Amino acid sequence: MIIEKEKKYHLQVYKRYPVVFVKGKGVKLYNINNKEYIDFLAGIGVVNAGHCNEKINEAIKNQLDKLIHVSNLFYTIPQIDLAEKLVNLSGLDKAFFCNSGTEANEGAIKFIRKYGKKNNKEKIISFYNAFHGRTYGSLSATPKKSIREGFEPFLQNFEFLPYNDVEAVKNLDNNVAGVIVEVIQGEGGVNVATEEFIKTLRDICEDKNILLAIDEVQTGIGRTGKFFGFEHYNIEPDIITLAKALGNGLPIGAILLKEEIEKYINYGDHGTTFGGNPLVCSAALSTIEVISEIIKNNKVIDKGKYFIKKLNTLNYDFIKDIRGKGLMIGIELNFEGNGIVNEMLKRGFIINCTAEKVLRFLPPLIIEKEEINKLVNNLNEVFEGLK
Ligand SMILES: Cc1ncc(COP(=O)(O)O)c(C=O)c1O
Repeated sequence: MIIEKEKKYHLQVYKRYPVVFVKGKGVKLYNINNKEYIDFLAGIGVVNAGHCNEKINEAIKNQLDKLIHVSNLFYTIPQIDLAEKLVNLSGLDKAFFCNSGTEANEGAIKFIRKYGKKNNKEKIISFYNAFHGRTYGSLSATPKKSIREGFEPFLQNFEFLPYNDVEAVKNLDNNVAGVIVEVIQGEGGVNVATEEFIKTLRDICEDKNILLAIDEVQTGIGRTGKFFGFEHYNIEPDIITLAKALGNGLPIGAILLKEEIEKYINYGDHGTTFGGNPLVCSAALSTIEVISEIIKNNKVIDKGKYFIKKLNTLNYDFIKDIRGKGLMIGIELNFEGNGIVNEMLKRGFIINCTAEKVLRFLPPLIIEKEEINKLVNNLNEVFEGLK
């Protein structure tokens, strides 16, 4: 019924799986018939602290009865506390809040443009297989043909380079204002940046006064085992964009930036009605606290290593690669993976396929070894059935 109703009333842009979810707790989701699923996708890297986390829900409920929204014409306490928290965690200097990942990148692109204008630099560089969002700025930085088709023209002076190509980034010229990059390309197939690539990028950007923006929308908030994905690379970005898991399900995005960039930005240059309202900021403050505890003592890094070790026991010719960091893990197959996702769904496991051939696992960071074992056993049976 709901499925037919969706067809009738909702714009048909999502090719959904035929499941209606009504409840979630921890790593479990329940459909309308109360069938239980183990969630290895976490709302595409959003509910990193698990569904309906008690602590975060309590923070949301407390704020809900106090104040939800007043606009950015006034000061509110959760927003400023959250700015302080993210500044301290990132080592950058300022925060701006928005509502989604694409919006965070949109703002970052505007700031890069403004910086470029004042320094006679026009180009913005991103990478093949990147995904930065679907609004015009971020889509201009996203090369994927299938999501761009029909929406031309895009913004000018955007160029794409091959990911992990050290020589290509060495040739960045003085006309480049900024580079935007994911340290692990999520939608692009869980492609992990090499240390050499990110370090070279940082050095070249330093040499040529290019702003380095790291898109942490998917890799941030503990996903890779560290709070930010860039921490694996020992570098300091100029700009960081965040969203997805920042509110553990409530819509909030953020742009973090260095003080040197702020001097190019004036009152009125950027803004939003909802961005950083007390409700979402309270959720984010609590999420940060909960996630910081979850990732302590390399717990998520170790779980990720265990997960990859288990996946490596799957011995099939059609597996091309198994890769990832923390709990952002992909299996590259030599065929289209959506059939596997459907089979796993029937068995009560939510996984995802991205870049057509990459099975992607982004479970809540509280996933236990036992659940990982169950998933791998079921995946093994599904793979076995393909032989
Ligand atoms: C790296 C990255 N950037 C940006 C986005 C866009 O975020 P949103 O869907 O919140 O606009 C995504 C979404 O998948 C993403 O993975």
